[in-house]
Amino acid sequence: MFSIYLSPPHLTGFENKFIEEALQSNWVSPYGNNIDAFEKELEEYLDIPYAALVTSATAGIHLALVILGIEKNDIVLVPTFTFAACVNPIIYTSAEPVFLDSELDTWNLDPVLLRTAIEDLIQKKRKPKALVLVHSYGVPAKITEILSICKEFDIKVVEDAADALGATYNGQKLGTFGDIGIISFNGNKIITTSGGGVLVSKNKEYVERAKYLSNQAKENLPYYHHEAVGFNYRMSNVLAGIGRAQLKVIDERVNSRRNNYQQYKTLLSSNTIKDIQSQTELLNGFSNRWLSTFYLGENLVLPAHQALQEAHIESRFLWKPMHLQPAFLRYGKYLNGNAAKLFEGGICLPSGSQLTATQIENIAAIVRNSLAHVNV
Ligand SMILES: Cc1ncc(COP(=O)(O)O)c(C=O)c1O
Repeated sequence: MFSIYLSPPHLTGFENKFIEEALQSNWVSPYGNNIDAFEKELEEYLDIPYAALVTSATAGIHLALVILGIEKNDIVLVPTFTFAACVNPIIYTSAEPVFLDSELDTWNLDPVLLRTAIEDLIQKKRKPKALVLVHSYGVPAKITEILSICKEFDIKVVEDAADALGATYNGQKLGTFGDIGIISFNGNKIITTSGGGVLVSKNKEYVERAKYLSNQAKENLPYYHHEAVGFNYRMSNVLAGIGRAQLKVIDERVNSRRNNYQQYKTLLSSNTIKDIQSQTELLNGFSNRWLSTFYLGENLVLPAHQALQEAHIESRFLWKPMHLQPAFLRYGKYLNGNAAKLFEGGICLPSGSQLTATQIENIAAIVRNSLAHVNV
């Protein structure tokens, strides 16, 4: 039990109204007014024509890969510095993930390594078919460079903006750059439906296919008839109601998380922590700072983490790279050492949108004190 959690849900109080409507109408399955309305509201917010609500971002990534025709033995590129939910769906399709390391500005996929990997794989007659592009912790990746390389080599992009609702690049919302984009509404995200996600695209056929496949690939017939293998991945109308209330406060939530990050940055950028670094927000990028992440330096994470733990405050190490995970050791990789370095020296601090300035001051003080004796 913690007194302060890493990224707890922040409800508005208006969720009940939409849930109640779903219960009153008796539409508690994946059909109903909340589903239709939440999809429309997301399309408007993201400024993208088509959206399909799904049970999780993981399910959305799986559907996206299936819709883009990923199948057995295909190669799908994916950052190593990410969460396993980006990799597992590649393996569900029987394709092979190949891991790519990070650059040290945004900590996201390194475009230089992306080109190296593609050229090398083409030489080996194993041209990658798709890339899962991740904006870790809500910070925009180097989108222009990455998309231009993918276009040059005709590689499809599944944009994993699971962490990044409300973040933008060149004024355009993250999640809307890929052939298909995915956003998460898990309980720890910037807004939540308890669990859930959305798949979006400018391509109407992709999103119609997602709705069809996510609802068991049922045909519009009075008996069950299946032309394709489907999934039970459609969001329920009750949970979509939670999302409708949450989306109304997204701008406030982004502001709170950005303020958390700014406050930590000011408080931690002192002589005490000499090497402190954080994810750079590119000039044309705007992060939602879903989590406040900092690189403290090798071996400094553990003392900070332990001191916070003793104060009943939750923190986490940065992503443990996928190429170091026992489950994924057998897959290909192109590395520059950055993801491993970030894992050894980086921390995610409590980032909830209900944190007070005083709580952040206390957390920063605990981190500073814990490091004072090791970082001289
Ligand atoms: C980068 C990234 N992708 C995908 C996911 C999976 O999201 P979900 O829990 O909605 O399946 C997460 C969840 O934390 C994530 O951080």
